[in-house]
Amino acid sequence: MSYYKIKDLENYFKMYKKSVREPRKFWDRIADENFTWYQKWDKVFDFDMEKAEFKWFLNAKVNITKNCIDRHLNKRGYKTAIIFEPNNPNEEAQHITYEELYKNVAKWSNVLEEQGVKKGDRVCIYLPMIPELAYATLACARIGAIHSVVFAGFSASALSARINDCEAKMVITSDGGYRGNKTIDLKSIVDESLEKCNTIETVLTVNRTNSSVTMKEGRDLWVQPLLDKAQDNHVAAIMDAEDPLFILYTSGSTGKPKGMLHTTAGYMVYTAYTFKNVFNYEENDVYWCTADIGWITGHSYILYGPLLNGATTVIFEGVPSYPDFSRFWEVIEKHKVNQFYTAPTAIRALAKESLDYVQKFPLSSLKVIGSVGEPINEEAWHWYNDHVGGKRCPLVDTWWQTETGGIMISPIPFVTPTKPTYASLPLPGIQPVLMDELRNEIEGNQVTGALCVKFPWPSMARTIWGDHQRYIDTYFKAFPGKYFTGDGALRDEVGYYRITGRVDDVIIVSGHNLGTAPIEDAINEHPAVAESAIVGFPHDIKGNALYGYVILKETGESRNQDNLRKEINQLISDQIGPIAKLDKIQFVSGLPKTRSGKIMRRILRKIAEGDFSNFGDISTLLNPEIVEEIKDGKL
Ligand code: WT7
Repeated sequence: MSYYKIKDLENYFKMYKKSVREPRKFWDRIADENFTWYQKWDKVFDFDMEKAEFKWFLNAKVNITKNCIDRHLNKRGYKTAIIFEPNNPNEEAQHITYEELYKNVAKWSNVLEEQGVKKGDRVCIYLPMIPELAYATLACARIGAIHSVVFAGFSASALSARINDCEAKMVITSDGGYRGNKTIDLKSIVDESLEKCNTIETVLTVNRTNSSVTMKEGRDLWVQPLLDKAQDNHVAAIMDAEDPLFILYTSGSTGKPKGMLHTTAGYMVYTAYTFKNVFNYEENDVYWCTADIGWITGHSYILYGPLLNGATTVIFEGVPSYPDFSRFWEVIEKHKVNQFYTAPTAIRALAKESLDYVQKFPLSSLKVIGSVGEPINEEAWHWYNDHVGGKRCPLVDTWWQTETGGIMISPIPFVTPTKPTYASLPLPGIQPVLMDELRNEIEGNQVTGALCVKFPWPSMARTIWGDHQRYIDTYFKAFPGKYFTGDGALRDEVGYYRITGRVDDVIIVSGHNLGTAPIEDAINEHPAVAESAIVGFPHDIKGNALYGYVILKETGESRNQDNLRKEINQLISDQIGPIAKLDKIQFVSGLPKTRSGKIMRRILRKIAEGDFSNFGDISTLLNPEIVEEIKDGKL
């Protein structure tokens, strides 16, 4: 265990150096000491950066669910593996032990096999955040089928695009799902999507909402009667280290979603190692990540990472605003959550509401709080740190991507001193570099550049499903010999990284490189501002000028808008410089966001440019109606 857990800052630096100088020895020992293998590897890794070919733990044989479940049964059979917190706070929470998890996953595995699912087949999972989502996902991994979980907020057309891309054989869904005060009819969305698919043979349906559904003869089955008949034990399939584990789609900057393929052993080793260290998980802690399992965050840090460590992980079906804005804090109190992991967008939304919602609860069980998904602005960082973490819990700002499989840059609690808005230092095994436009590595500190990674790590995506060339082009072309993240970053005087946002969000104004994040930080400091987004638009003299979209807090809405504009620009001027002042400031009631909470800057950019001709696909937006409002209010 000594090698697995980073003890203090000195130990971190020692481990980090070791992982760079002797990566084979480093990962060999971690993999060897902490997992159950049918057969060990011949070689720790092999790679070719140019061809973008990566292999880890060559020829090892393993099953990830044996490591997530079976091996805990002796010591932790009666320990809670999953706490299910339903959408409705009056519905009782479920505590599912490792023993029960084993039996459920075994039953599901037997059902999938009976239905003809084989090693290598793709199974699309379109379920709400209920325990069956965990069972179905783990059952796929257990029998060697490749799961592709699609977030159950995606539309029918997004779902069919994904099913068709990976040629899935089965869809697992439910009649419906609860989200706040809404019930979403998932089965009918699946029915609609399948009108455009022809690879699906079976639709397994979970009963969650007792909604009326149509069941197509010969294709659709209720899963419960099948589970009732199934055996509650199952022999896990023996998988090769590099056998595919799952495909997870991530939206590209254009067009077709990219099916990122993750494989078995490297993903297992890395998610387990990072979960333990980044959340400082200790036996008997209760860990809660509020993401959906339909995103990589949920794959790696609701399911695999926690279960690999024998942890207790919370699956929350609901939303932060239902029944009111205290739901998160109430759930933390109810289950005595020790580690809490959420997204800046949620923090900002909650910070906009009365402090009473959070101050009602002592939250004294919390030990570590985390952030993921986008740069966390300074105001949100402090609000989270002060009011949720009580200035006592380290706030881990974790930078990573669907493509990286696991957390790459993050403070380690009680080890790495935190600094607001900084993801801080790379985890052992991760070698970030900053690159300039001439494709040279920028050495030294206090520099900014395009964030790349110059050496492989175990959990990196291996390809884009069905399109290896696109994988090469997207990630390995811009900076030959390196993995390009698409993000920009700053490295400060002590080597801490601050992710400044997508590189395509950098706006050059009068020859000055301006990042959107720091300007938005400045705007958000204004007491009347809730959230903001800035984009560039063409300007005759400056090349680009800045256009700001600003959401006001309720208290700010009655203020004189011209005065507000002046005050906002004064703030920017004070914090960054007059060069960063906005030419236009439009007050809006919302920003177009993807379902994972990211602002769709592409749309804002088009509106700012006055180009209303083609916004592209806005069907995946959380709030497509906002586009019209913003367009109508354009300055
Ligand atoms: C992009 C990846 C894997 C987490 C869920 C999002 C941005 C993610 C941070 C952070 C600044 C962050 C980056 C990255 N991002 N975490 N802590 N600080 N930016 O996964 O949808 O694949 O998005 O999210 O821009 O490239 P994703």
